[in-house]
Amino acid sequence: MQQFKKVFITGGAGFIGSHMAHHLLDNFQGQVTVYDNFCSGFKNYLEPHLNNPRLQIVTGDMLDFASLKSASVGHDFIFHFAANPDIAKSMTQTDLDLKQTVLATFNLLESMRLNGIKQIAYASGSGVYGDVGLTETAESFGPLMPISMYGASKLGAEGIISAFCHMFDMQAWIYRFANVVGKRQTHGVGFEFMKKLRKNPQILDILGNGTQSKSYIHVSDILHAMFFVIGKTQNKVNIFNVATDDYLTVNEIAKIVIQKMGLKDVKYNYAGGDRGWKGDVPIVRFNLDKIHQLGWQAKYSSEMAINLAVSEMLTEPPR
Ligand SMILES: NC(=O)c1ccc[n+]([C@@H]2O[C@H](COP(=O)([O-])OP(=O)(O)OC[C@H]3O[C@@H](n4cnc5c(N)ncnc54)[C@H](O)[C@@H]3O)[C@@H](O)[C@H]2O)c1
Repeated sequence: MQQFKKVFITGGAGFIGSHMAHHLLDNFQGQVTVYDNFCSGFKNYLEPHLNNPRLQIVTGDMLDFASLKSASVGHDFIFHFAANPDIAKSMTQTDLDLKQTVLATFNLLESMRLNGIKQIAYASGSGVYGDVGLTETAESFGPLMPISMYGASKLGAEGIISAFCHMFDMQAWIYRFANVVGKRQTHGVGFEFMKKLRKNPQILDILGNGTQSKSYIHVSDILHAMFFVIGKTQNKVNIFNVATDDYLTVNEIAKIVIQKMGLKDVKYNYAGGDRGWKGDVPIVRFNLDKIHQLGWQAKYSSEMAINLAVSEMLTEPPR
């Protein structure tokens, strides 16, 4: 059983990273370092642990190699979540993902190599598979031809992780997550709908035609999956899809958000087209045989996860 004595979490003040920090501080006895530049994360996401002596928060950027190398000294396990989460942004900033994902991941692995840190868990995503319609993509699916800078950079980061593992005797767990939802979400369709409806409860602007169909997984399920997989696998590079068995459309999500917010007669205003933006993959289908065979299954369906996440987000102060 993995001990997690001193864990380093990049992006630990963001949505998923803060849940990981809470989970480790609540369930393990070791030290936790959050490394974050706070571009989309928040210090108060780490409440009520801000004064916990086992938590250290370092304000630093993944592209500042000297800072990253010095902050990561002495750790034995890395959870890597820092990245640009906005897929559409690379339409105007074409080198954003290359720097924030590929270069940032290289800096992290090089710091690990120099500091003798051997294990890393990485949050990748379905974007690596590209746009393959209703094809259920298994981890062995190929060729991998992403259609966004975000997806391409995730694939690039996976490749760099694999290379470091093989060349420098490291070990990695790579998770290709579905859309993750829950408390402290910083982006995502349900989150955006709530934000828009708080501003204008009569009209909901929907990107695309509303029929985009994907898996939505609750953050508690992905945390469970991450530790479950680490406890059960010992390969040099362990890659797993992590998703629900079912799928929801954007229209179905709109309906849930409207109902949860107690709104009526909301008019949908579609931007049109089969996808939300260039680079968005409208249909995502995962093959989950590998993780199911290991014994893991999501507790919440996509519908349950969205319902739960919207309820949770409604209790948070609007952002
Ligand atoms: N949320 C999802 O649906 C989803 C799905 C698949 C994969 N992922 C991946 O999981 C990871 C976490 O996603 P999230 O939803 O929690 O996003 P998030 O934006 O809430 O968290 C990212 C965190 O990283 C920090 N960060 C970003 N760039 C940084 C930099 N250069 N240096 C230091 N810190 C930096 C941000 O301030 C933030 O706290 C990302 O790698 C994302 O691509 C997320």
